[in-house]
Amino acid sequence: MNAPLLSGIHIAVPSPTATISLTTPSLAKGAPMASVHVIDHPLIEAKLTHMRDRDTTSPEFRALLKEISILMGYEITRDFPTKLCEVDTPICRASFPVLKDDFFTIVPILRAGLGMVDGLLELMPFAHVGHIGLVRNEQTHLPEEYYYKMPEGYEGSVIMVVDPMLATGGSAVDAISSLKKRGCNNIRLVNLVAAPQGIEAVRTVHPDVDIYVAAVDEGLNEDAYIVPGLGDAGDRIFGTK
Ligand code: PRP
Ligand code: URA
Repeated sequence: MNAPLLSGIHIAVPSPTATISLTTPSLAKGAPMASVHVIDHPLIEAKLTHMRDRDTTSPEFRALLKEISILMGYEITRDFPTKLCEVDTPICRASFPVLKDDFFTIVPILRAGLGMVDGLLELMPFAHVGHIGLVRNEQTHLPEEYYYKMPEGYEGSVIMVVDPMLATGGSAVDAISSLKKRGCNNIRLVNLVAAPQGIEAVRTVHPDVDIYVAAVDEGLNEDAYIVPGLGDAGDRIFGTK
């Protein structure tokens, strides 16, 4: 069940046993959230609830993540510019909108971000895909980069960094910094579930980056997992635990 916190922001209520640490005073005080888009469509909410269930299997989890990615794709791309193009309909010639640019780059943060790629590619089959490999050190919870591979000429394109989980924000902050270091300046971040701490971290370091999320949860536990969250997204997608 989601309880309204701020206009457009919903915080999922955790179980009474969960450990909560809400350390984002500016969010709690209602700081402007202009660059955070919470896509809380009922279809997305229902599918996400199913994903959160610990008994949902890996094949179901993957299918739901793909479906949600398609649905989120409509909002992520809502401001893409269009231009007019002449078309001969069976009746007459007239002008209609088409996308102005067709070079978009989807950048999953490995591994779990891969789970969002197929859905977005279904919506935008012409998009390019780059990969950033990051893994959180289990002791420090800090991300470590192990892979970086992008399509040629991606720097000037709209870049959608995708990862189901935004927990401390360390992985997203580092991925975006890596892209900016190479000259990218049109980046948006797409997550399924975010902790307020992660949103705050990204907004602090990268205030120019729009964030799209399906849900903002209550906080993080002592292992820096999102509460109530959905557990380890990579493990659930790939069945590694
Ligand atoms: C998870 C998740 C994010 C990161 C989020 O990846 O997919 O990349 O943690 O946490 P943060 O916001 O605190 O950085 P993980 O490091 O577990 O790697 P995996 O995708 O290979 O499982
Ligand atoms: N990574 C995950 O996969 N889940 C979390 O809750 C936090 C980080």
